[in-house]
Amino acid sequence: MSLLFALFAVNWVFFACHAAPTGQCKATRNTATSYSGFQIWSITPHSQSEQTALFKIIKNYKLEIWKETKELDDPVDIMVPPRVQKEVRQKLKEAKLPYDIEILDLQKEIKNENPIVNASASTRNAAHQMDWTRYHRLDDIYGYLKYLADTYPCHVQLINIGTSYEGRPLYVVHISNSTSAHTPAIWIDGTFHAREWISPAVVTYIIQQLVEDPANLKLLQNVDWYIMPVVNPDGYEYSHVSSRLWRKTRSPSEVESGRCQGVDPNRNFDFKWGGAGSSSNPCSQVYKGPKAFSEPETLAYANFISSISYKTKLYLTLHSSGQKIMLPWGYDRIVPHNFDEMLALAQNAACKFKLFNYKVGNKVDLLYRASGNSADWAASIGIEYVYSVELPIRGFVLPASNIIPVSQDFFRAMDVFADKVSTLTVVVK
Ligand code: ARG
Ligand code: ZN
Repeated sequence: MSLLFALFAVNWVFFACHAAPTGQCKATRNTATSYSGFQIWSITPHSQSEQTALFKIIKNYKLEIWKETKELDDPVDIMVPPRVQKEVRQKLKEAKLPYDIEILDLQKEIKNENPIVNASASTRNAAHQMDWTRYHRLDDIYGYLKYLADTYPCHVQLINIGTSYEGRPLYVVHISNSTSAHTPAIWIDGTFHAREWISPAVVTYIIQQLVEDPANLKLLQNVDWYIMPVVNPDGYEYSHVSSRLWRKTRSPSEVESGRCQGVDPNRNFDFKWGGAGSSSNPCSQVYKGPKAFSEPETLAYANFISSISYKTKLYLTLHSSGQKIMLPWGYDRIVPHNFDEMLALAQNAACKFKLFNYKVGNKVDLLYRASGNSADWAASIGIEYVYSVELPIRGFVLPASNIIPVSQDFFRAMDVFADKVSTLTVVVK
């Protein structure tokens, strides 16, 4: 809510665009929301009372949290719009809470995040536009998936599982070396949240490695992979052309007079829907939607996973950021019956990382409560190993040069996951 409010003040063009009927919004780079002067501040509470004081300031000024933690001595990152910087600075001073400026001017950071497209003849004529040196638009990602399906028809199948609110196709790639219906499967997805751009970058890297690097053929031995790089394509495109920090879907609010758009797809699932850590306010970043599965994206996703749930043994959903592998449940501070097995496997996977140190644990302990999230739903339908990942490094706006190190490091976990899943038995009903 605070973010949207700030945006209205910053750029009326955004408002005009925002209020236009969905699908008619033709915002371009020129009319995109500006984050000029927005800053990211990092504050480390060292005591319970400092933590309470900090969260009170965050609440009073409706500041958006970029990095959340429950632990003391661990920094919390917040976004501070220019119009409240003076006051927030004063409040922090009164609470004796020093802050470091992580990002001095968010708009500059956004400008430098993604290198300009190199429109050389070679890339224009290439079979696909995908690489991992920059963040790509949806067309490039989908173009790559089609290229893979055309080029490796024995291993790759492109499955259209439905259509987004604005009419974009929703794609899952099925990567397999078998024809058996008994092969245990791994599900991986990305881009629930539009602005978390490192997520589709890492997910497409995993696809690339599994399909195009023969050294990884062993990972297809008795394991099928179902991978969906962009769960929320409307939001993702909107974050590229109109508003870099867009998080939710793009469906209009059902409230007649409401100007807020979008549902948090990760609060829209039909398991403990509407509980703690979700909101009924359409302007909230964690708006649960008018009903469970109100969004065509979450409904198509759930229908598809349900159809393969009998063989899906491991579920991974990639968000950013926080360097965490989080286990259910997210709706409350309790754990599922097989938590210990889940934890052991995640810890084995995390041991493989060489560049980044991931925390492993229950979601509520490591992050916050989030009722109606997709991972809880996946665990509720019986998938044995369920993880939500917060990728490294910091925040939502991360120079594209980080894609390769983050992806390469994360891919090491695939060995551990595939090893485990390949030993599990599928019972066909
Ligand atoms: N990907 C996380 C989410 O789904 C965001 C992680 C950053 N933490 C935060 N409190 N904003 O909400
Ligand atoms: Zn997220």
